[in-house]
Amino acid sequence: MVQIKKPRFITFEGGEGAGKSTQIRLLQAALAAAGVPVCLTREPGGSPGAEEIRTLLLKGGVDRWDAVTELLLFSAARRDHLVKTIYPALARGEWVLCDRFYDSTLAYQGYGYGCDDEKMRAVNGLYHLIAGDFKPDLTFILDIDPRVGLQRSKGRTGNAEQRFEDMDITFHENLRRGFLKIAVSDPHRCVVIPADRDPVLIAADIMRVLKEKGFYADA
Ligand code: TMP
Repeated sequence: MVQIKKPRFITFEGGEGAGKSTQIRLLQAALAAAGVPVCLTREPGGSPGAEEIRTLLLKGGVDRWDAVTELLLFSAARRDHLVKTIYPALARGEWVLCDRFYDSTLAYQGYGYGCDDEKMRAVNGLYHLIAGDFKPDLTFILDIDPRVGLQRSKGRTGNAEQRFEDMDITFHENLRRGFLKIAVSDPHRCVVIPADRDPVLIAADIMRVLKEKGFYADA
């Protein structure tokens, strides 16, 4: 039997301008209409301490941090977010919808920078330190050509948090390939959704997946 009230941890991933925030808001509205309690959150950020770290990470020049420092800052923010926001929300019985999570670290700090296997193992080890075996129940990877996505995200006015948008196109192509590799390596958890389409069609695909997985059913 489908138990839509069972707490779920669902993450939304993808490159710049893939439309994650729009899809999260559409899903939140659909769940709220069905009476499902929802915690909407994001990374980096999602708790007061992690939001402070977000400012450090996303503002400033592309060379503001070296790769290791950046990885440690994302991990520190994630630990605070898990402890202060995600675990308590799940314990209260809420669905947690999170705009980016650990796959973004693998894609941006790993594949984006072209990390070798040894560094990738270290990135995984760090995640294990902060979260153990805890993982999202489901991850939507919104896939879009980075040239299209960057055009969309750079068109947003007043976006001062663009350290990663400012990386060169090779970085963005690497991270797109990285997200697709993550999906192949964890097919039970990850679903790739083509994102260069009408947001209403994308939302319908997301709802179809939730129903197929037994997470959601119409009343
Ligand atoms: P966003 O809120 O617009 O998605 O911006 C968050 C930025 O942070 C985005 O450029 C991706 C980047 N990021 C990483 O590089 N690593 C991570 O682990 C996370 C969560 C985000």
